[in-house]
Amino acid sequence: MSSSWARLFDALAPTYDETTGGAEWAANEHLAELLAPLGLEPSSVLDLGAGTGQTALVLHGLYPRAGLTLVDPSPGMVALAPDKVPGAAVVVADAATFVRGTDRSWDLVTAIGFLELAPDLFEVLRLASSRLRPGGHLAVSHEPLLPGSSVQALPVSVVSGTGEVRRHPSAEVERRAASYGLERVVSRQAVAFPRSGDDGDAVYEYVVWRRSPAQDSAGGE
Ligand SMILES: C[S@@+](CC[C@H](N)C(=O)[O-])C[C@H]1O[C@@H](n2cnc3c(N)ncnc32)[C@H](O)[C@@H]1O
Repeated sequence: MSSSWARLFDALAPTYDETTGGAEWAANEHLAELLAPLGLEPSSVLDLGAGTGQTALVLHGLYPRAGLTLVDPSPGMVALAPDKVPGAAVVVADAATFVRGTDRSWDLVTAIGFLELAPDLFEVLRLASSRLRPGGHLAVSHEPLLPGSSVQALPVSVVSGTGEVRRHPSAEVERRAASYGLERVVSRQAVAFPRSGDDGDAVYEYVVWRRSPAQDSAGGE
């Protein structure tokens, strides 16, 4: 499960916001740039891998009237979120476990900076799509497998001894998403953060999908 990542992020939590300022963590800026032109008006938003609430802060800026539910297994990280988004519901849990155990549905589900840490990215996508209202949207980032010799050419790498980062080709992510009844609305690849050493920048793919009303019974793989 995610307990090793929860422990790693608990240790990072006290300095997380300070060390991810500015260009050190651009993922939420890219999210905002993709979502803003779509003119969505969600009344409910579920943010998976919410961390300290940086993604939620962007979502609250875009959708001030939406009710936010934030899910993250690191108590230290999510403890910092309510200061940024008062009124948000905060749940300490693994994303897949939380979604599997709820019968609620949301207009918008987000997962930023988290899917490459999930034991099974596709399971999270499948579960998240199942909790979207018809016509709802799923907005995510993931770290795609890329050609070349950087760490991003490895399907799996290990961080701090225990945290596994898993990468999949963009085309495979899209193929699986389509099997869950998701239609791609917009996407881009862009730098999320600079890596230390010779591995270059971390490039993420950012995607917004819409749940097709015609596909509501899609089961997927
Ligand atoms: C890089 S941070 C991103 C946080 C936030 N979305 C942001 O942009 O600042 C990744 C977060 O994913 C969380 N995470 C790791 N494994 C998880 C899991 N299985 N389910 C939900 N969240 C998880 C970590 O605890 C951490 O807070």
